[in-house]
Amino acid sequence: MTTLAPANLLGQSPYQDYVYSYPHKTAYRPLSPRSLADVWSQENRSTLFLYIHIPFCEMRCGFCNLFTTVMHDDDFVSQYVQAVERQARSLRNALPNSEFSRFALGGGTPTQLPLKGLEAILNVAETTMGADLQTIPMSVEVSPDTATEDKLKLLRDRGTTRISMGVQSFIDAEVQASQRRQTAQQVQATIQRIRQVGFPNLNLDLIYGLPGQTVDSWLQSIRTALQFEPEELYLYPLYVRPLTGLGLSDREWDDTRLACYRAGRDLLLGQGYQQVSMRMFRLPRATDATDPVYCCQADGMVGLGCGARSYTQSLHYSYDYAVNAKEIKGILAGYIAKQAVDFESIDYGFELDQQEQQRRFILLSLLSDEGLDLAAYQQAFESAAIADFQSLQEFQALGLIRQQQQRLYLTEAGLERSDAIGPSLFSPQVRKLMNQYQLK
Ligand SMILES: C[S@@+](CC[C@H](N)C(=O)[O-])C[C@H]1O[C@@H](n2cnc3c(N)ncnc32)[C@H](O)[C@@H]1O
Ligand code: SF4
Repeated sequence: MTTLAPANLLGQSPYQDYVYSYPHKTAYRPLSPRSLADVWSQENRSTLFLYIHIPFCEMRCGFCNLFTTVMHDDDFVSQYVQAVERQARSLRNALPNSEFSRFALGGGTPTQLPLKGLEAILNVAETTMGADLQTIPMSVEVSPDTATEDKLKLLRDRGTTRISMGVQSFIDAEVQASQRRQTAQQVQATIQRIRQVGFPNLNLDLIYGLPGQTVDSWLQSIRTALQFEPEELYLYPLYVRPLTGLGLSDREWDDTRLACYRAGRDLLLGQGYQQVSMRMFRLPRATDATDPVYCCQADGMVGLGCGARSYTQSLHYSYDYAVNAKEIKGILAGYIAKQAVDFESIDYGFELDQQEQQRRFILLSLLSDEGLDLAAYQQAFESAAIADFQSLQEFQALGLIRQQQQRLYLTEAGLERSDAIGPSLFSPQVRKLMNQYQLK
């Protein structure tokens, strides 16, 4: 990964890196062991975000570098669910008096679990962790093949408010070229099923920049998605990452992705969607949008499962990470073998000093429509964001951000360069760790 000085941003590829959290997991390293009780003792635990990771998929898509495996025989899956139960009990003891204001079940593919396994995981969230699933926003990732009626009904009855499904494309040839097994017909039948079962919010993921895709075929995919009036759409530019199976390399690719982004954005804005970030578009009626409880800057995240990250204000932690199937298998075997006592401490992550916390604050708020609240930054860090980060002024001079009252927002030109602006704000230390990370 290269880092761009602001003045170079306009001349470089807009596609450097997708920044959805900071620092990236590849900057995590072994830490001296510390107890979870200590780690969380000083945190505000009244509005936590609970996340459970299910690392199983029916196939490994050519573009995907998430922590997931296609190895999911019943015995292995049930041992994994039991390990999550053990981890949850240890965690609950270490975090007394915690309240969760949001829950997400992701992966991988949570609906790859058999019905009983899915039920057990929901029980972990509700009974062991004490999350009130009937009242808090709850999001679950599904895939077209595994979102069966019985699982969808279970999810609805247990309080799911948002279903998110990876579609990627409604053009069969594009899907096949990404080594993904699904047909447009199958996907449309699944969306109808999701609508019939009934969830307040449906999100569909689409990818642009796929092999063989054109702006026209891209717009055709978006139009097909629009027939189902999803409350949310995520438009992802394709990244081909090391150790994933696609192997594209084309300079013109940037131009295609940018053209697809602009055409897709214009189509969705014309249909009444609001743009929340470079990737996320939402209808005003989406219910989670008006939920005031969750704020990405303030809340702690409690992750359960192998592959899940957890965030306190000054420490981010997880278990080891890999993309290679054999490595993932080894990490999962280590997780399954853990006993309750092993879950009481952590030893892998990243400590955020005040400057890293400042960067995180700036990055996450600037890249979303929430914008960078200068007064909130001043209050949190007792210093001025613009004085702390000179590049903010340079972005402004380049027309990439604008100030409105006490907030900085990305301009249209800034939004489409989110994936270059974000990485340019990484600290030298995080950049170095990411560059040194040996992918496995
Ligand atoms: C957390 S992933 C999991 C989604 C789910 N397992 C599925 O595929 O149905 C969410 C989305 O990220 C996007 N994504 C994953 N890898 C990507 C890549 N290399 N480039 C662009 N988008 C990617 C896909 O649109 C995917 O649906
Ligand atoms: S994109 Fe989704 S279904 Fe495909 S491998 Fe990644 S997590 Fe699994």
